[in-house]
Amino acid sequence: MNRRMASLVAAALLLFTLAPGVHADDTDPPEVVIGERLFLETRFAQFFFANSGGNVNQSLATGDPVMDTNVTLTGTIPGPFAGQSMNCRQCHLVDEQKDTAGGGNRTYGDFARRSPIPARGDGLTETPRNSPPLVDASLPRRGAFFLHFDGEFDSPEALVKGTFTGRNFGWLPGEEAQAVAHLANVIRGDDGTSPFAADTGSKSYAVLLKATDPSIPKELKLPKTFRIDVAMASDAKILDAVAKLVGAYVRSLTFAQDHTGAFVASPYDVFLKKNGLPNKPKKSETPAAYSKRLKAAIDGLANPQFVTDADGHFELHAQAFTFGATQLAGLKLFLGTANCVACHPAPDFTDFAFHDTGASQDEYDGIHGAGAFAALSIPNLSARSAAPQNFLPPSAKLPNGTGVFRAVPLSGHPERTDLGLWNVYENDALATPKSDRKIRTLLCKSLRSQGKQCTPDALLDAAVARFKTPGLRDLANGAPFLHTGGKDTVADVVAFYAGVSDQARAGQLRNGDPEIANVHIQAQDRSPLGAFLDALTEDYN
Ligand code: HEC
Ligand code: HEC
Repeated sequence: MNRRMASLVAAALLLFTLAPGVHADDTDPPEVVIGERLFLETRFAQFFFANSGGNVNQSLATGDPVMDTNVTLTGTIPGPFAGQSMNCRQCHLVDEQKDTAGGGNRTYGDFARRSPIPARGDGLTETPRNSPPLVDASLPRRGAFFLHFDGEFDSPEALVKGTFTGRNFGWLPGEEAQAVAHLANVIRGDDGTSPFAADTGSKSYAVLLKATDPSIPKELKLPKTFRIDVAMASDAKILDAVAKLVGAYVRSLTFAQDHTGAFVASPYDVFLKKNGLPNKPKKSETPAAYSKRLKAAIDGLANPQFVTDADGHFELHAQAFTFGATQLAGLKLFLGTANCVACHPAPDFTDFAFHDTGASQDEYDGIHGAGAFAALSIPNLSARSAAPQNFLPPSAKLPNGTGVFRAVPLSGHPERTDLGLWNVYENDALATPKSDRKIRTLLCKSLRSQGKQCTPDALLDAAVARFKTPGLRDLANGAPFLHTGGKDTVADVVAFYAGVSDQARAGQLRNGDPEIANVHIQAQDRSPLGAFLDALTEDYN
């Protein structure tokens, strides 16, 4: 049973002791419960600002059309927030579409290759990238903390501020101040009558965030560090407080762990446990070193005890709860010749770092022909700095940026592609001085390991088409895959790696990570690798 299921049971037990309408939960602290309400809040969007006639407690006469549906790989399904305006959950779904034909559970992603965004007359209709699962995305880690495929944000709080005031919520670059003022107005003026307020006792944000009213039940009383008197606070301070709360919620989204912090719920985790294999790094051990120790232990396993439906059961997935000889063969490949472990070390199955796997080249060449990405002209640092608006994404500091290098590739537009980290590195509109230094350290380490010097141009060049490594747990809820959303199944991703590793060895992968050339996948390896990845599925609810 994972944390959310446990909390549902607890909520049922507590139901009698609480005021009506209060959704109690013994495991979720108040900042997480209130953070979730803000994650669901539909009124921060520019569409609501423009169509609510200045009354923040007014429901919209007509919702933003972007909310009518969720886009899937085969069409659309009805949107859970139709009639309203944008919220975080629209693109980061969990069980909203669980029972919808063509839908299903999600680990806080959506079903689209790229997520539809509100229309603002700038020609943009979707996010440049696939919406990634948020479960486990904010896990604490060794080394630098980044979010978004390109490392645009260095904390969940920075991401929340940028998102609520950014293009996904309908705000154009240059409208940030208006967005902040609007968000603060909603928080100050909210009267607790919105449908999402029911889980927080139908109390207003002002009352919940001040946290002094005696009618607030204990389970909704915010700790001091999260409190703010919104009647007195500046707009900016209100945005900070909202970011802290949504940040607490986002950080709370993790796959099931036991009291020691070990993951426990997938057939893979049960296999480790059943065989007495180490299930997490020691205190001072890196994930890479732990993965080596795990590999040695698995290689030495004389009589593996396999996992069957007798050891567990999926409620939310059609697949069998299995870790057998095929999955074990796949795990050995993953840790061995297929070299996946180089960037996806256990137990999180990500190094949280940036690599060029060839995903951008794969999509670009698919449209413009083999060799096109390698031949694409990309400016060096001085050329980029001389005319940043020609190359860099639009932002508050660069409202007229074309963003051609953070764009969806399109036939007839060979200038458009996605260079990932390249957009953020040395770009003071998207990176803070501190996060920029951290990126430089990562890039320089990578250059030095290839015997190259860390000159400004070499560093920017090394950032080309690098994207942050995602975790691999519960991929069954995460399709389509890669930042392009271009791979529909796990088998497609495995086939992708077979292809790019061949290209890397032939010297045909632009800026390809050296570890990609070390990926070796024979025809007979594909099915066990896929079976192993499927054994990382769990019942996240
Ligand atoms: C219109 C769709 C959309 C909305 C609305 C949206 N997101 Fe996202 N989210 C995305 C996409 C797409 C990405 C990947 C962006 C990238 O890498 O450039 C993403 C990435 C993220 C990530 C980073 C995950 C990782 O592994 O790096 C977090 C965290 C996140 N979103 C939280 C939120 C929160 C909180 C909100 C509301 C404030 C929100 N999102 C609203 C589409 C959306
Ligand atoms: C050089 C580092 C590296 C190696 C080696 C590597 N990966 Fe990845 N992996 C990444 C990065 C980075 C991404 C994101 C790429 C993107 O979207 O542009 C990724 C994405 C993925 C995804 C998509 C996840 C999602 O949610 O979209 C899967 C699945 C995956 N890798 C599996 C594997 C397997 C299996 C192997 C071994 C055959 C492997 N990887 C080897 C770095 C690596």
